[in-house]
Amino acid sequence: MDILVTGASGRLGPSLVQALQADGDRLRLMSRRGAGPGGVRGDLATGFDLRDALAGAEVVVHAASDPTNAWEVDVAGTRRLVQAVDRDRLRHLVYVSIVGVDRIPYGYYRAKYAAEQVLLASGLPLTIVRITQFHGFVDELLATARKGPVLPVPMGWRVQPVDVADAGAYLAQVARQQPTGDVVEFGGPEELAVADIARAWVAARGGGGHVVSTPVPGRLSTAVRDGAALPSGRDRGRRTYAAHLGG
Ligand SMILES: NC(=O)c1ccc[n+]([C@@H]2O[C@H](COP(=O)([O-])OP(=O)(O)OC[C@H]3O[C@@H](n4cnc5c(N)ncnc54)[C@H](OP(=O)(O)O)[C@@H]3O)[C@@H](O)[C@H]2O)c1
Repeated sequence: MDILVTGASGRLGPSLVQALQADGDRLRLMSRRGAGPGGVRGDLATGFDLRDALAGAEVVVHAASDPTNAWEVDVAGTRRLVQAVDRDRLRHLVYVSIVGVDRIPYGYYRAKYAAEQVLLASGLPLTIVRITQFHGFVDELLATARKGPVLPVPMGWRVQPVDVADAGAYLAQVARQQPTGDVVEFGGPEELAVADIARAWVAARGGGGHVVSTPVPGRLSTAVRDGAALPSGRDRGRRTYAAHLGG
């Protein structure tokens, strides 16, 4: 099979690529520079080289994203990708989205949801996979939130982070199945309070930090407290956040 992955140079990319490797397939990895083994150039923000990158692809796993330029890269870029795909060859397009994009009022999520709508209206054979936050991404957010001896976290937020290798394996499995034409959701094995995650992170990674649960007003915060970031369905990764910290 001829498989094209967008966003292979990001956090998810290496796990996704590893899970997609199979004898006999041709795997190509699109990024703006097209560097590395299997690399091909393609820029979603400008459309440069997109048609060449997508030529011949039977499966596309579309994981590229730019939270700092999401309306151009994620929304308009997905529209460019839809126009560039080889409709005669394409069997399945898998789009990587985020759990909660349909119910959490946050600019980047609105863009991801708009990209989903572009795809659903495209008539292409597809599956949209919404995933919760990767464990390593949670670590990055906590490191950014820590201010000297204090680690403030939003009070009452409930999340269900997932191991990036589990996410990559799930996406690879979906990509090899028939398109559902719809949305499926995938998350980690356990729902956790952000404050508990933060305490476990400080204990495991050191560096100090007194976790302070802070009330955060607003609709976004209310949505996350009400469980809008938790996955529906039954498909779950196996590796816990504690195992991630321990490993
Ligand atoms: N991070 C999370 O916890 C999380 C959770 C659930 C879902 N997701 C979704 O999973 C996907 C991957 O997330 P990630 O955290 O791995 O992303 P990331 O680390 O931010 O990587 C973004 C990727 O998008 C590519 N990209 C950015 N602008 C581009 C452009 N103009 N043209 C072509 N490619 C471009 C980058 O490639 P170059 O810069 O090399 O060109 C890079 O490979 C995203 O769709 C994200 O919304 C992420």
